Amino acid sequence: MNKIKSIVVASMGIALGLASCDSGNMRRTPGHIYAPDMTYSRAYDAYTSNPKLGKDSLISHLPVDGTIARGHLYDHLKEGDTNAYKTYTTAMRFNADEMKEGGRLFNIYCGICHGTNLDGNGPLYNGGNGKFAAAPANFKDAKYLHMPVGQMYAAIKYGKNMMGTYASQLDVKQRWMVLAYIKKFQSANGGDPFIFGEGGPEIKADSAKTVTATAANTNAANNNKK
Ligand code: HEC
Repeated sequence: MNKIKSIVVASMGIALGLASCDSGNMRRTPGHIYAPDMTYSRAYDAYTSNPKLGKDSLISHLPVDGTIARGHLYDHLKEGDTNAYKTYTTAMRFNADEMKEGGRLFNIYCGICHGTNLDGNGPLYNGGNGKFAAAPANFKDAKYLHMPVGQMYAAIKYGKNMMGTYASQLDVKQRWMVLAYIKKFQSANGGDPFIFGEGGPEIKADSAKTVTATAANTNAANNNKK
């Protein structure tokens, strides 16, 4: 009996479904447009064509080969590109509030693995008993105490092995604030003198000139190899 009931219910459902597909009375034309400028954009939309743009007339173009967007110079260097990524640094210097903010961000984004004591033993790792199997860097360890800040920056921007990238969570300034926080801590624990605080040594942002030189050399070397 129950079987018959469910067959009846199911077939009624199907009939209803099919009936709702009937497009007999559906309107296929849009209503009246009283403000055409709002309905049809006067500006050219992305991915459409603009006949005034010449050859391929596309609105969105790829960047010209070999160019780098403003503000992104050098920032793109990553591990393996050249060794120059290690010498990458910043001209930013942070006041007490910004240092505090760096610590806050560290505890949110990094502490879970690297530990709020920066000892590489956050709750996710928990001495190897946590959910995350790979041992995070222990910033007190000799291996990391003098690690070039450019290399650490690359780890945040691109990730490092099991560690994912934090580029989308932290903007450029926030990344450096977090690094300043780590470096200050390391400095107090036997690392290099701390230079990212207010009044620290001034450097021109394009101290990265050395970076270009090294990168150019490496590129030349690579080209020679080809
Ligand atoms: C999900 C866990 C996890 C989180 C969160 C995490 N890391 Fe890591 N981190 C790791 C692991 C694991 C390694 C060791 C990678 C290796 O050497 O194989 C590592 C390594 C590093 C290194 C050393 C890079 C190198 O070249 O050896 C730095 C610097 C670092 N992390 C910074 C950070 C910072 C800053 C944050 C927060 C923005 C962060 N990490 C968040 C897991 C994490």
